[in-house]
Amino acid sequence: MTPAALAGIATRAYCHMTPWREADFAATLAQPTTLLSAGEGAFVLGRVVAGEAEILALATDPERQRRGAARAVLARFEAEAMARGAEEVFLEVAAANAPARAFYEACGYTRAGLRKAYYPCPDGSRDDALLMRKALPEN
Ligand SMILES: CC(C)(COP(=O)(O)OP(=O)(O)OC[C@H]1O[C@@H](n2cnc3c(N)ncnc32)[C@H](O)[C@@H]1OP(=O)(O)O)[C@@H](O)C(=O)NCCC(=O)NCCS
Repeated sequence: MTPAALAGIATRAYCHMTPWREADFAATLAQPTTLLSAGEGAFVLGRVVAGEAEILALATDPERQRRGAARAVLARFEAEAMARGAEEVFLEVAAANAPARAFYEACGYTRAGLRKAYYPCPDGSRDDALLMRKALPEN
Protein backbone atom coordinates (compact mmCIF):
# COMPACT_ATOMS: atom_id res chain seq x y z
CA MET A 1 0.00 0.00 0.00
CA THR A 2 1.44 3.38 -1.00
CA PRO A 3 1.92 6.39 1.33
CA ALA A 4 -0.92 8.13 -0.55
CA ALA A 5 -3.30 5.19 -0.06
CA LEU A 6 -2.40 4.99 3.64
CA ALA A 7 -3.00 8.73 4.05
CA GLY A 8 -6.36 8.40 2.29
CA ILE A 9 -7.59 5.75 4.74
CA ALA A 10 -6.23 7.71 7.73
CA THR A 11 -7.92 10.93 6.59
CA ARG A 12 -11.29 9.20 6.21
CA ALA A 13 -11.01 7.15 9.44
CA TYR A 14 -9.44 9.45 12.05
CA CYS A 15 -11.87 11.79 13.76
CA HIS A 16 -10.30 12.19 17.21
CA MET A 17 -7.01 13.67 16.08
CA THR A 18 -5.09 14.97 13.11
CA PRO A 19 -4.36 12.04 10.77
CA TRP A 20 -0.92 11.28 9.46
CA ARG A 21 -0.24 12.85 6.05
CA GLU A 22 1.30 11.18 2.99
CA ALA A 23 4.73 12.62 3.85
CA ASP A 24 4.51 11.21 7.40
CA PHE A 25 3.82 7.74 6.00
CA ALA A 26 6.59 8.02 3.39
CA ALA A 27 9.16 9.08 6.01
CA THR A 28 8.18 6.26 8.37
CA LEU A 29 8.14 3.63 5.60
CA ALA A 30 11.74 4.61 4.77
CA GLN A 31 12.95 3.51 8.23
CA PRO A 32 14.39 -0.04 8.44
CA THR A 33 12.62 -0.78 11.75
CA THR A 34 9.18 0.01 10.28
CA LEU A 35 6.60 -2.76 9.92
CA LEU A 36 3.48 -2.29 7.76
CA SER A 37 0.58 -4.71 7.61
CA ALA A 38 -2.11 -3.63 5.13
CA GLY A 39 -5.02 -4.95 3.13
CA GLU A 40 -8.78 -4.73 2.52
CA GLY A 41 -8.97 -1.03 3.38
CA ALA A 42 -7.11 -1.37 6.68
CA PHE A 43 -3.55 -0.97 7.87
CA VAL A 44 -1.34 -1.19 10.94
CA LEU A 45 1.90 0.75 10.83
CA GLY A 46 4.49 0.29 13.56
CA ARG A 47 8.07 -0.57 14.29
CA VAL A 48 10.04 -3.31 15.99
CA VAL A 49 13.07 -2.34 18.07
CA ALA A 50 14.99 -4.43 20.63
CA GLY A 51 12.30 -7.04 21.27
CA GLU A 52 9.45 -4.52 21.46
CA ALA A 53 6.89 -3.71 18.81
CA GLU A 54 5.09 -0.36 18.83
CA ILE A 55 1.94 0.52 16.90
CA LEU A 56 2.19 4.05 15.47
CA ALA A 57 -1.02 4.22 13.40
CA LEU A 58 -3.93 1.91 12.67
CA ALA A 59 -7.11 2.53 10.71
CA THR A 60 -9.85 0.95 8.62
CA ASP A 61 -11.73 2.84 5.91
CA PRO A 62 -15.10 3.80 7.47
CA GLU A 63 -17.08 1.97 4.78
CA ARG A 64 -15.23 -1.27 5.65
CA GLN A 65 -15.33 -1.09 9.44
CA ARG A 66 -16.79 -3.81 11.68
CA ARG A 67 -15.96 -6.60 9.23
CA GLY A 68 -12.78 -7.88 10.87
CA ALA A 69 -10.35 -5.96 8.61
CA ALA A 70 -8.36 -4.35 11.43
CA ARG A 71 -8.29 -7.57 13.43
CA ALA A 72 -6.83 -9.36 10.39
CA VAL A 73 -4.09 -6.82 9.66
CA LEU A 74 -3.21 -6.62 13.37
CA ALA A 75 -2.84 -10.42 13.55
CA ARG A 76 -0.43 -10.28 10.60
CA PHE A 77 1.44 -7.37 12.21
CA GLU A 78 1.87 -9.36 15.43
CA ALA A 79 3.06 -12.49 13.59
CA GLU A 80 5.63 -10.51 11.60
CA ALA A 81 6.74 -8.65 14.76
CA MET A 82 7.33 -12.00 16.48
CA ALA A 83 9.31 -13.17 13.46
CA ARG A 84 11.49 -10.09 13.96
CA GLY A 85 12.02 -10.97 17.64
CA ALA A 86 9.31 -8.94 19.38
CA GLU A 87 8.04 -10.33 22.69
CA GLU A 88 5.44 -7.64 23.35
CA VAL A 89 3.50 -4.88 21.59
CA PHE A 90 2.79 -1.39 22.95
CA LEU A 91 0.58 1.44 21.74
CA GLU A 92 -0.96 4.69 22.90
CA VAL A 93 -4.63 5.40 22.37
CA ALA A 94 -6.62 8.53 23.28
CA ALA A 95 -8.75 7.92 26.36
CA ALA A 96 -11.73 9.43 24.50
CA ASN A 97 -11.34 7.08 21.51
CA ALA A 98 -13.86 4.47 22.69
CA PRO A 99 -14.00 2.47 19.40
CA ALA A 100 -10.22 2.04 19.28
CA ARG A 101 -10.04 1.13 22.97
CA ALA A 102 -12.77 -1.48 22.46
CA PHE A 103 -10.94 -2.81 19.41
CA TYR A 104 -7.62 -3.22 21.21
CA GLU A 105 -9.31 -4.87 24.21
CA ALA A 106 -11.09 -7.29 21.84
CA CYS A 107 -7.67 -8.15 20.41
CA GLY A 108 -6.15 -8.97 23.80
CA TYR A 109 -4.49 -5.67 24.75
CA THR A 110 -4.62 -4.50 28.36
CA ARG A 111 -3.99 -1.15 29.98
CA ALA A 112 -0.38 -0.69 31.07
CA GLY A 113 -0.29 3.01 32.00
CA LEU A 114 -1.76 6.50 31.64
CA ARG A 115 -0.15 9.54 30.04
CA LYS A 116 -1.99 12.61 31.31
CA ALA A 117 -2.75 15.42 28.83
CA TYR A 118 -0.81 13.62 26.09
CA TYR A 119 -2.76 14.53 22.93
CA PRO A 120 -3.49 18.15 21.92
CA CYS A 121 -7.17 18.65 20.93
CA PRO A 122 -8.46 21.09 18.29
CA ASP A 123 -10.17 23.20 21.00
CA GLY A 124 -6.88 23.77 22.83
CA SER A 125 -7.53 21.24 25.58
CA ARG A 126 -5.53 18.03 25.95
CA ASP A 127 -6.69 14.42 26.11
CA ASP A 128 -5.17 11.64 28.18
CA ALA A 129 -3.56 8.66 26.46
CA LEU A 130 -3.78 5.10 27.64
CA LEU A 131 -0.69 2.95 27.20
CA MET A 132 -1.77 -0.55 26.19
CA ARG A 133 0.27 -3.74 25.96
CA LYS A 134 0.02 -7.30 24.73
CA ALA A 135 2.52 -10.11 25.30
CA LEU A 136 3.48 -12.21 22.24
CA PRO A 137 2.46 -14.89 21.65
CA GLU A 138 -0.96 -14.81 23.27
CA ASN A 139 -3.89 -17.06 22.54
C1 LIG B 1 -10.36 1.10 15.57
C2 LIG B 1 -10.59 0.67 14.12
C3 LIG B 1 -9.23 0.54 13.40
C4 LIG B 1 -11.29 -0.72 14.12
O1 LIG B 1 -11.34 -1.18 12.77
P1 LIG B 1 -12.37 -2.33 12.27
O2 LIG B 1 -11.83 -2.88 11.01
O3 LIG B 1 -13.75 -1.78 12.26
O4 LIG B 1 -12.27 -3.41 13.46
P2 LIG B 1 -12.71 -4.96 13.38
O5 LIG B 1 -13.89 -5.11 12.47
O6 LIG B 1 -11.51 -5.81 13.06
O7 LIG B 1 -13.20 -5.18 14.90
C5 LIG B 1 -12.72 -6.25 15.72
C6 LIG B 1 -13.41 -6.12 17.07
O8 LIG B 1 -13.01 -4.89 17.73
C7 LIG B 1 -14.14 -4.34 18.45
N1 LIG B 1 -14.56 -3.08 17.84
C8 LIG B 1 -14.16 -2.56 16.65
N2 LIG B 1 -14.74 -1.38 16.41
C9 LIG B 1 -15.54 -1.14 17.48
C10 LIG B 1 -16.44 -0.07 17.81
N3 LIG B 1 -16.60 0.98 16.99
N4 LIG B 1 -17.12 -0.14 18.98
C11 LIG B 1 -16.95 -1.20 19.82
N5 LIG B 1 -16.12 -2.25 19.54
C12 LIG B 1 -15.44 -2.21 18.39
C13 LIG B 1 -15.26 -5.39 18.34
O9 LIG B 1 -15.10 -6.31 19.40
C14 LIG B 1 -14.93 -6.03 17.00
O10 LIG B 1 -15.48 -7.32 16.86
P3 LIG B 1 -17.03 -7.46 16.35
O11 LIG B 1 -17.21 -6.55 15.16
O12 LIG B 1 -17.13 -8.92 16.01
O13 LIG B 1 -17.88 -7.03 17.51
C15 LIG B 1 -11.51 1.67 13.36
O14 LIG B 1 -12.63 1.97 14.17
C16 LIG B 1 -10.82 2.98 12.97
O15 LIG B 1 -10.23 3.08 11.88
N6 LIG B 1 -10.91 4.01 13.83
C17 LIG B 1 -10.34 5.34 13.51
C18 LIG B 1 -8.83 5.33 13.61
C19 LIG B 1 -8.34 5.08 15.04
O16 LIG B 1 -8.94 5.54 16.00
N7 LIG B 1 -7.21 4.34 15.13
C20 LIG B 1 -6.60 4.00 16.42
C21 LIG B 1 -5.68 5.05 16.85
S1 LIG B 1 -4.69 4.46 18.22
